[in-house]
Amino acid sequence: LIVCEKEIAPWAARYIKQRIEDFAPTSDRPFVLGLPTGSTPLKLYQKLIEFHQQGLSFKHVVTFNMDEYVGLPEDHPQSYHTYMHQHLFDHVDIPRENIHILNGNAPDLEAECQQYEDQIKAFGGVELFVGGVGEDGHIAFNEPGSSLQSRTRVKPLTYSTRLANARFFDNDLEKVPKLALTVGVGTIMDAREVMILVQGFHKSIALAHAIEAGINHMWTISALQLHPHSIVVCDEDATMEL
Ligand code: GLP
Repeated sequence: LIVCEKEIAPWAARYIKQRIEDFAPTSDRPFVLGLPTGSTPLKLYQKLIEFHQQGLSFKHVVTFNMDEYVGLPEDHPQSYHTYMHQHLFDHVDIPRENIHILNGNAPDLEAECQQYEDQIKAFGGVELFVGGVGEDGHIAFNEPGSSLQSRTRVKPLTYSTRLANARFFDNDLEKVPKLALTVGVGTIMDAREVMILVQGFHKSIALAHAIEAGINHMWTISALQLHPHSIVVCDEDATMEL
C-alpha cells in the first residue's frame, strides 16, 4: 500500500515508467500494459505524456483497456475509445496496432470478448494491469456479485454505477449505457502485476474492502488480496476507513 499525501499520479506514473524501462521492451517482447479509464487516471496519463516528451517511448508497449460501454459509437465523447485517444494515445508514440480496446459495437459481443482474451494470451499475458475502483468496489466493470474467476464478458451495469457515471452524460441517467464489455476479475488477476489507484474520501469504504475486509465477490476489488504482486496507490483521504 502506497499512501501519497495528495496526488497519486506522480508516484504511479514514475512506477509505470520504471517498469517499462527496466523491462526494456523490444518488438519481439513488448511490454503488455492493462489500462483503465475514469477520472482517477487522468493525471496519471498527463504525467506519462510528460515522460514521453522527456524521452519515454511507447513504441514497444502493447495496451489492453479494461472495458468499454456497449452501444456507444466509438467516436462518442464518452466512449472509452475517445477517452483513451484524447488523454493518452494521441500524445505518445504508441503504434495504433498495439492498442486494444473492446469493441462495444461488435456484431457478436461474446465473440469479441473471447477474441480479447485470446489476444491477451497471444501476447503472453499482461505484465502490469493498472486499474481504478468504483465506490461499490467494482474493478473494471465487474459489478458486485461478479465471479472472482470471471473472464471478459458482457456485463449489465448496476444502478449505482450508472448513477455515478451520469455526470458524464448530461446528468441524464437515461443516456448512460446499460451494458458494458469488461475484462473479468480473473483476467485482471492473471496479470503478473496489478496496480490499483484509489483517490478520494468517497472511495474509502472500497479501499477498506480491497485490503482489510474479507475476500468477497460483492466487493470484487477484494480479489486483489489473492494476487501475489499487487500495489494499491491511494491518497490520504481514501484511507479514512482503514
Ligand atoms: C468506471 C470504470 C472503472 C473505474 C471506475 C471509477 O466504472 N469502468 O474502471 O475504476 O469507473 O472511476 P473514477 O476514477 O472516475 O472514480
